Parts: sequence; structure tokens; C-alpha cells
Amino acid sequence: MAIVWDKATFDTMYTCTGWKWGVRNYPRVPRFHYHWFGQQGMVQAIVDRYQSVPGFNSIQDIAIIGGGFGWAGEALTQLGKNVVTVDTSDYILNNKDTSEEVELRAALAETGFDPDNLPVMIGPDYNTPVDPWSYWLRPDGKRTSVNILGEDLSTTASRRNVRQALGNKVDVIVTEYAIDSMDAGDDAASLTLVERCEQLRPNPSCTVVHIIEPNPSDVVLNVKTAEEWRTLLDANGYTDHRIVASAGVL
Ligand SMILES: C[S@@+](CC[C@H](N)C(=O)[O-])C[C@H]1O[C@@H](n2cnc3c(N)ncnc32)[C@H](O)[C@@H]1O
Repeated sequence: MAIVWDKATFDTMYTCTGWKWGVRNYPRVPRFHYHWFGQQGMVQAIVDRYQSVPGFNSIQDIAIIGGGFGWAGEALTQLGKNVVTVDTSDYILNNKDTSEEVELRAALAETGFDPDNLPVMIGPDYNTPVDPWSYWLRPDGKRTSVNILGEDLSTTASRRNVRQALGNKVDVIVTEYAIDSMDAGDDAASLTLVERCEQLRPNPSCTVVHIIEPNPSDVVLNVKTAEEWRTLLDANGYTDHRIVASAGVL
């Protein structure tokens, strides 16, 4: 059965602590949800993967498939790229324009903290305490600044919507940890997504890249090595799709 990318799945897979160090005489550090501020370290790691794509500097128009709340896309926009993010998760699509404050307050209260009266020492630096609410929440009051399309790429119209969102210029199509987000052994679902990316491709000079993160101890996600993905893609005719992982580009 395919993984459902609901809130519980995101919060389990992307759990992060509210701050770094415990504070004496206070409850333990709470766990936060799939949270914009808490995920910034991961976002930087993803941007590093994008930067390892051959010819990255001359790439301008990027379609990100499976981009979650689009935080990596947002970072790429800040690097001057034109980005559209696609995701099919109802959790992402229904919450992208809402504030994270309610979830943060709930996590704090659940652990025993008063969200309106937090200890000053939980700032990023013990020596210069800052009110964490000033950096936990985005200034725009939303979860993302990125345009997220709920397109599944299964039809001509769906793919046309994605291309049009990029002004009909697509330099690169990137699955962002999406093809390795299937149940173990579910090659058919992964290959369906790969094929939809191929169909989205406006011409052969548009590069298709699959960012993955092999992890031998993960029995649900990330189950194939980069070499195994390469073999699977080659066997199915996707010889010019690139695999990008922490180990490099295949
Ligand atoms: C492992 S998460 C990665 C999220 C984001 N790229 C990140 O790294 O934070 C996989 C994402 O792929 C999305 N996804 C899975 N299958 C998809 C599909 N067929 N089309 C679009 N998005 C898909 C899921 O909804 C989920 O948001």
C-alpha cells in the first residue's frame, strides 16, 4: 500500500526539537512538527544536492515534483531560479497558506510549557536570548511563499498546467525525495512517477533529475542504493535521467 503523506507521516519522518538545549527546572525539550524553521538545516542539505546537478548555474526554470511545502524551492528562488513546486499531499495543499502557530502552541503546551511565557534561555544562543516566536513563525504568517500546484501529472492538462506555471520554459524537472517515497519494493509506483516526469518534459534538452537519499537501515523509504536506482532507470529506458544523492551524481 502506498504511503499516505498526511500530517502524521510528515511529523514522524521529519520530527525536530523545538530548541537545542534543555533548561534546568523546565520540562524536556518538545518535538515540533514538519516545521519551516526547524527544517532549515535539511533545506540547506537539499539545496546542496541541487547545486551538484551538472550545469546548475545555467539552469533557470525548475519544476520540483514532491516538494512538500516548497522550502527548498523557496531557497532556490532566493538564488534567482524560477521554480514551481508540485505535490499531491492533501496535508500540504490544505495547510500551505496557514500559520504554524496553532501546532507550535499545542506542542509546547503538551510538553508542559506556557507558550506565552517561555524561558528566555531557549533562544538560538544562550548569551543573546531572543523571543523564539520572532523566528519560529514566518513574517508572512504562512507556511511557504512558494506556489504549490496539486497536479498529479497524470493527464495532458495536468502537465500543461505545470509547464504554464513556469512560462512554458522548463530547464529541469526534479523529483525531490519523491521516487524513493514509496513502500519498499513498489517499483511500479516509482516508475509511474518517473514516466509522468518524462511526459512532462517539453523537449530532450530538459534534464530530469531524481534526488534520493539511500539509507540501508530504512526499511520503508530510501531502500535502494543510487546504483540500484540507476540500474532500474536504465532497464526501463530512462538512461538520460540523472540520479542525485549525497554520494554524487549517477
Ligand atoms: C519524502 S517527502 C519529501 C518532501 C520534500 N521534498 C522534502 O524533502 O521535505 C515526499 C513527497 O513527495 C510527494 N509525492 C509522492 N508521490 C507524489 C506524486 N506522485 N506526485 C507528486 N508528489 C508526490 C509526497 O506528497 C511528499 O510530499
